[in-house]
Amino acid sequence: MKTLKHLFNDNLIWAASIKDKDPNFFTRLSKQQSPEYLWIGCSDSRVPANQITNLQPGEVFVHRNIANIVVHTDLNCLSVIQYAVEILKVKHIIVCGHYGCGGIKAALEDHEHGLIDNWLRHIKDVIRFNQSEFDQLEHEQKLDLLCELNVKEQVKNICNTTIVKNAWKQGKELSIHGWIYSIENGILKDLDSSTTL
Ligand code: CO
Repeated sequence: MKTLKHLFNDNLIWAASIKDKDPNFFTRLSKQQSPEYLWIGCSDSRVPANQITNLQPGEVFVHRNIANIVVHTDLNCLSVIQYAVEILKVKHIIVCGHYGCGGIKAALEDHEHGLIDNWLRHIKDVIRFNQSEFDQLEHEQKLDLLCELNVKEQVKNICNTTIVKNAWKQGKELSIHGWIYSIENGILKDLDSSTTL
């Protein structure tokens, strides 16, 4: 049986290096988490929330799925948002998409992929909502535009959840941000679609 021993070895090295710099790090974190940010990003292995923002364990609450989609009937994602807003009291929700997203690419093309096509329908809806913007573009430009528009659409979806609406009604400090990441140069960009109370 393969036990992935190298990952356990690397884990011991990692834990020791953290303790070396900050002997109380794990004791402190084990008592509570109070992250300021909720990150909703793509499952893509090249877009790890903590590393690209240089945030430490305990600093960001994370939900990831294919193409960073927020669907009003997705109990998983909604539960994450509710817990983050109402219990952890995060101040910022960040939707972070990325250029070159495989999910976005698949939604733009017309091949069949099986079960996942049902998930990708949500992205096809984003094309339909913005059809005129796509008409004159080359394929690569369409791909980049859809990666951006998809983030903006998910920002709207988050703002329309009862969770966020209620938080704002109660005067809670909560901002929703739309960002995009380039896997080619490692740089994050704000899409200026932020919404605050
Ligand atoms: Co992706």
